Amino acid sequence: MIQTIHVRTNPEYDVTIGPGLLRECGTRLRGAVPLCHMAVVTDSNVAPLYLKTVKDSLLEAGYQVSTYMFPAGEEHKNFDTLSGILEFLAEEHLTRTDCVAALGGGVTGDMAGLAAALYLRGVKYVQLPTTLLSAVDSSVGGKTAIDLKAGKNLAGAFLQPSAVICDTNCLETLPPEVSADGAAEAIKTAVLSDAGLFNAIEDGMFMMTDTAAIIAHCVQYKAGVVERDEKEQGERKLLNLGHTVGHAIEKCSDFTIPHGHAVAAGLAVMARASKRLGWMLEEGINAWTADRICSALRLTGLPISTEYSPEVLAQAALSDKKRAGDSITIVVPREIGNCELKKIHVSELEAIIRAGLEV
Ligand SMILES: NC(=O)c1ccc[n+]([C@@H]2O[C@H](COP(=O)([O-])OP(=O)(O)OC[C@H]3O[C@@H](n4cnc5c(N)ncnc54)[C@H](O)[C@@H]3O)[C@@H](O)[C@H]2O)c1
Ligand SMILES: [Zn+2]
Repeated sequence: MIQTIHVRTNPEYDVTIGPGLLRECGTRLRGAVPLCHMAVVTDSNVAPLYLKTVKDSLLEAGYQVSTYMFPAGEEHKNFDTLSGILEFLAEEHLTRTDCVAALGGGVTGDMAGLAAALYLRGVKYVQLPTTLLSAVDSSVGGKTAIDLKAGKNLAGAFLQPSAVICDTNCLETLPPEVSADGAAEAIKTAVLSDAGLFNAIEDGMFMMTDTAAIIAHCVQYKAGVVERDEKEQGERKLLNLGHTVGHAIEKCSDFTIPHGHAVAAGLAVMARASKRLGWMLEEGINAWTADRICSALRLTGLPISTEYSPEVLAQAALSDKKRAGDSITIVVPREIGNCELKKIHVSELEAIIRAGLEV
């Protein structure tokens, strides 16, 4: 079954989700992107798996195609790789009416998107997500970025894609730990959005059945948030649940701990902190929400703790871009489907993390 979710941003675009879509991506893109020169950017793991399929489909539909491959991994989400992509676009003489296609996970999408935002002050781009994380989260919403030494995603731009085509067959080649990274963002979305999705994940639905349904659910939720707050002035900040601590963990590990694993630990820390500090609502006869969140993460093979101390994490978090002067906004889970933005003084963060690290 093929599902389409329309995102009403500027520009508006469709997210199409289903099996086997890469084979037909050329014809599927024709509606959103008039025939042009399509520069496909991908990484060294995805290229041998899917680049030929995409290239053939684009050529068959009538696009002119160039391809660029960079070495896979978060450690390459930096200026050097970005500059390589930009030089490639210039060498291939892409013009304002041409388009970049990001084929890969969140690292590829974030960097190819940023290159599209910068090249000639902005050309179109489309997302062809191949990881669960990019399917449920990063391919939608128009945030693009690279990491700086000082921290995650510190240089970036907002640019909505012109289309997102998510071929769910790609998920079959993912190593289990990369699937788990995507599950972390899906669990985050479930905690933010609704009990139905959370119950399904909690019951192990991820392991067994319809990942496409979970992807569609997550995209639908994110699309709504992004439509109401495209540039993260308010509500969109909720999507950073688990990310203040998560980004700090990534940075402390020199980006060797993957984003999803770091976010999982960050989400667990915030859930326990919320329970301990009295912000969490009790769940009647059910277990505490914090315990349910930690169990769901563990069930998916994700970490719920970290080796870094509250001091080190708070220090790393405070160089994060989400800081505004002396205050920082954290996202507090109160119950499933009910999270709250809380503006705190930077000096309070360490104690909150400490409360969340105590098991
Ligand atoms: N822009 C946003 O809104 C947003 C949201 C969430 C996360 N992110 C970013 O996304 C990044 C993480 O994304 P990710 O987890 O997809 O990482 P990734 O892009 O590095 O992919 C993970 C690994 O899987 C490999 N891979 C990709 N597709 C594959 C496939 N189908 N089969 C086999 N291997 C495959 C990649 O080569 C890589 O080694 C982080 O940099 C994070 O900051 C961005
Ligand atoms: Zn994330």
